[in-house]
Amino acid sequence: MNYNIALLKGDGIGPEIVDSAVAVLKKVAEKFGHTFNFTEYLIGGAAIDAAGVPLPQETIDGCLASDSVLLGAVGGPKWDTLPADLRPEKGLLGIRAAMGLYTNLRPAKLYPALAERCPLRQEIVKDGFDLLIVRELTGGIYFGDRGRREGKYGPEAYDTEAYSVMEIERICRVALSAAQKRTGKVISVDKANVLETSRLWRETVHRLAEEYDGVTVEDMLVDNTAQQLVKNPSQFDVLVTTNMFGDILSDEASQITGSIGMLASASLGDGTRGLYEPIHGSAPSMGGQDKANPIATILSGAMMLRYAFDLSAEADAIEAAVDKALNDGCRTYDIVAPGMKTLKCSELTSEIIARL
Ligand code: IPM
Ligand code: MG
Repeated sequence: MNYNIALLKGDGIGPEIVDSAVAVLKKVAEKFGHTFNFTEYLIGGAAIDAAGVPLPQETIDGCLASDSVLLGAVGGPKWDTLPADLRPEKGLLGIRAAMGLYTNLRPAKLYPALAERCPLRQEIVKDGFDLLIVRELTGGIYFGDRGRREGKYGPEAYDTEAYSVMEIERICRVALSAAQKRTGKVISVDKANVLETSRLWRETVHRLAEEYDGVTVEDMLVDNTAQQLVKNPSQFDVLVTTNMFGDILSDEASQITGSIGMLASASLGDGTRGLYEPIHGSAPSMGGQDKANPIATILSGAMMLRYAFDLSAEADAIEAAVDKALNDGCRTYDIVAPGMKTLKCSELTSEIIARL
């Protein structure tokens, strides 16, 4: 088959990790007889430098015309002082909105080979964990009304959290169907003891759950969820939550896998075209040094094959090659253990390709 993939390399370590994933995808194409055509577009700081805006129209058009999009990461101190609308992060939020990607799937599992890197005590993670965070991605406080004004105590700023029933329904449906293919257990994370949006969220998710055979939904307050993730991560299967809570909890979940450099994500809308990216950031101080862990981006490539192109054998092959490389002790600096050689980003990529 023939697929057109838009590449948004972005900033910092973005270019090198995307190059790694592309090298892996090219090997898969050769092995399984597909053609992947890659076209690069600008986003984030790189786009600000070249075109004056974090998300040029050409990038939006290119992504919408592609079969799927692979993204590295955006942002860096160089652009931190720009006005809000010109920050690199605005490019990422903009492309999620322009492509209608309201679902963000963030799986987190403990790799047996990396168990010693997990910051939690062995007795806590002895059963491992394999959870899926379903994060709402185009609503809530990220996209609500915001601004500056004169308030009771002088100048103030505000950001607004709003969720419509429609937005809650469509993200909860994704989580409920995902749970049917897993253990059927959904935890819906909110702050219903304080927030009205959370109370609407609760009503909605429980109403929908009745339509899903074999699925149970339990509510958990977000502060408690943050505790439970480090106290007993094995209790979780599917978690569904808002844009901001999902942002925070997915970073916490990644940390307990042993390295933030391992977690892939898929951002999806109603069709098959999605955006695939590592959940970690651009690590500006490491950019261009060939040091970064490429695994999260390589696994994002695997997710793209599975979800966007329905190529599950090919996705399995990438995931198996990553497992093998890890089991054989191939590690970048962030996951290296005593007695192992620290590999560069490009070296770990070659080791993974050699195992495909
Ligand atoms: C993420 C990132 C982004 C987000 C930032 C860079 C805007 O933290 O993808 O988790 O908050 O969504
Ligand atoms: Mg984040």
